[in-house]
Amino acid sequence: MLDANTSYAYLLWCRDFPGTTVVAEVGGQVVGFVIGYLRPQAPHTVFVWQVAVDRDQQGRGIGAAMLDKLLDTVADDGASVLETTISPDNPGSIAMFTSVARRRDARITKRPLFEPDLFPDEHAAEDLYRIAPTARTKPEDRR
Ligand SMILES: CC(C)(COP(=O)(O)OP(=O)(O)OC[C@H]1O[C@@H](n2cnc3c(N)ncnc32)[C@H](O)[C@@H]1OP(=O)(O)O)[C@@H](O)C(=O)NCCC(=O)NCCS
Repeated sequence: MLDANTSYAYLLWCRDFPGTTVVAEVGGQVVGFVIGYLRPQAPHTVFVWQVAVDRDQQGRGIGAAMLDKLLDTVADDGASVLETTISPDNPGSIAMFTSVARRRDARITKRPLFEPDLFPDEHAAEDLYRIAPTARTKPEDRR
């Protein structure tokens, strides 16, 4: 499901990519995060690397709300495409991104990106999902 990175990698991430990082807090505790970046070769595309919500907070809209926050933030920089990769064995993640696309009237497409034999370790395939256009049609829809 989630390939945890080192704590050093997350600290470095927050230092260098704060504009495309989101955390969710409940009662002053961090319960979720999104890390992403604007692709250097395609700066109108935000690539979502990881999304995670604490198990006991899942199913409450926190994952989708963090993605909404990220998309509304990068929209101010002209980014209107979201890319992410998802393994076929992660129905929760597929459902969450599909829901985000549906609520923004955006098209969602999928194609193979990384096959298992590319990974030096045991790893499921990663399919590339693309959602566009991600801009909300009405500003009053922002939450
Ligand atoms: C994937 C994950 C981030 C979803 O977070 P969440 O806060 O539970 O998701 P939300 O409550 O915002 O749900 C958003 C939509 O996805 C659906 N959904 C979420 N998890 C689901 C699941 N396991 N099965 C089916 N649908 C699911 C919700 O029903 C909702 O759909 P709706 O808008 O049509 O009602 C969370 O399950 C998680 O942290 N998983 C482990 C880490 C992981 O696999 N991350 C992705 C790879 S980096």
